[in-house]
Amino acid sequence: MQDEKTVNREAWKVNYVTLLEEVKDFAGEEPWYVAAFANISALLYEELPDLNWAGFYIVRGEELILGPFQGKTACIRIAKGKGVCGTAWEQERIQRVPDVHLFPGHIACDSASNSEIVLPVRQDGQVVAVLDIDSPVFDRFSAEDERGLAAIADALSDLCTGF
Ligand code: SME
Repeated sequence: MQDEKTVNREAWKVNYVTLLEEVKDFAGEEPWYVAAFANISALLYEELPDLNWAGFYIVRGEELILGPFQGKTACIRIAKGKGVCGTAWEQERIQRVPDVHLFPGHIACDSASNSEIVLPVRQDGQVVAVLDIDSPVFDRFSAEDERGLAAIADALSDLCTGF
């Protein structure tokens, strides 16, 4: 018999092969990061079930500044090393957080968020942005989601311009 978590995981299955192709199409059509990130935020928000926020923060000096996103209004500036986003930037590593309330320094833009994944976007070896995705469901993001989204973040690194 399946428990509720198993059932949800099945319902959350995303075809990341198709999604990656769609992302590449958007970025290929218009590589300027603002346009590409705007459509890719909309795509991810629509295609991944049970999200409450999907979007980007852009590196500007020692801060991240809010970029294109879907969801509720969010904090505009995040210092390096602060919150999940600033930590992903500082450590240059994906942060997959099953319970944001247990993450020291988590920045709660939307009180509905319970889990989060943040992926660095690099150009010439430097982090230029982060992709931030939030869910009201605890432990929403699986290792499979991480792999699929990491491939998307890597594709953006190659395709997007104008940071
Ligand atoms: N929770 C993030 C802040 C950004 S919002 O989730 C959109 C963090 O802790 O960095």
